[in-house]
Amino acid sequence: MAALMNNDIFIEVWNTVLFEKFLRFMHLLVEGLSSHSDAFLSRNLHPEGFRVLDIGCGFGDSTMQLAGNLGPSGEAVGVDCTANFIREAEADASHKGVENAGFMVADVERDDLQGPYDDAFARFGTMFFNLPGAAMNNINKSLKPCGRRDMIVWRKWEDNPWLHDAELRVKEIVPVVSDEETDQVHCGPGPFSMSGPDMVSEILKSTNFHQITFERHDSDICIGRTIEESVYFAMALGPAGETIRLAGEEGERLQGEERSALNETLSQFVRDDGVWGRLRHGLFQPPSLSLAHLAWEGVLFRT
Ligand SMILES: C[S@@+](CC[C@H](N)C(=O)[O-])C[C@H]1O[C@@H](n2cnc3c(N)ncnc32)[C@H](O)[C@@H]1O
Repeated sequence: MAALMNNDIFIEVWNTVLFEKFLRFMHLLVEGLSSHSDAFLSRNLHPEGFRVLDIGCGFGDSTMQLAGNLGPSGEAVGVDCTANFIREAEADASHKGVENAGFMVADVERDDLQGPYDDAFARFGTMFFNLPGAAMNNINKSLKPCGRRDMIVWRKWEDNPWLHDAELRVKEIVPVVSDEETDQVHCGPGPFSMSGPDMVSEILKSTNFHQITFERHDSDICIGRTIEESVYFAMALGPAGETIRLAGEEGERLQGEERSALNETLSQFVRDDGVWGRLRHGLFQPPSLSLAHLAWEGVLFRT
C-alpha cells in the first residue's frame, strides 16, 4: 500500500504510457485544451516583466504563450514531473526562438520550484497530485507575497458526456479493475479530482490562499477529425481508455466490441467539420445556445 501511495508511480505513468499517448494525439490535445487557456491568457492579467510559473506544463505551449505576454523582461517557467514532456518543450522553444521561457523537471508536490514567482498558472496541470495540499503549499512557498494563482481544471465528469458516456459504455463491456487490484501504473486522482469547488476551496484555504473565486468557461473541443479517430482517441486516453488499459488482456480481447460501442456513442457528436465534445444539451445554458461546458477556471488570489 505504501508503494501505491508514492507519487513516483504517477510520475512513471506520465513519463511512459501517457506521454506516448499525448504525443500521438498532440494535435487534438494542444488545440482542444488551448481554447480554455487562450480565453484566459487573452485577458493579459500578468504584467510585462513578471516571472510566472506554469504548473504541469506538458508540451509547454502555454508556457511559451505566457512568455510572449510577459515580454523580454519577463520570464515564464514551465514545470513538469515528466522528463519526456520537458525535453519536447525545450526543443519546441528553441525551434521557435522563444528566449524567455524556461523549463524544469520537478515534482510540484515536493521539489524546490525555484521561485520566487510573481504569479502561477496551470492548464489542466493540477489534478493529478497524490497529496494536493502538499502541492498547494509548495506552490505557495514559491510565490512572492500577494502572488496570484490561476488554474484551469475540468468541471465534473457528468458535464462532459463525450467522456462520461464513453466510459459508461466501455464499463458495460470490460471488467472494471480498480487501481488497488492491479499492478499497472496509473495517473493518480484523475482529471476530475478538482471538479468540486467546495473541496478545492477548502484545500486552498487550508494552504493560505485567499479571495478564491471560480469561473465557468465553455468551449467545444475537437475529439477527432473523423469518427474513427474519435474512437481511437477515446480508447487510448481519458476514463474510457484508462478502463480498457486497466482491464489488461480482457480489455485487449474485447477491442472489437469496445470499438463498435464507442462508435455508436460518439456518433452523437459528429459535425461536418469533425467530432466535437460538447455539453449535454441545455444543462446549464438556455437550450438554444447548446454551448459546451468543459472546464471552469478557478481564479485564485492570495493576499
Ligand atoms: C493533463 S496534462 C496537462 C499538460 C499541459 N498543461 C496542457 O494543458 O497540455 C497534466 C500534466 O501534469 C503533469 N504532472 C502530473 N503530476 C505532476 C506533479 N506531481 N508535478 C509536476 N507535474 C505533474 C503531467 O506530467 C502532465 O504533463
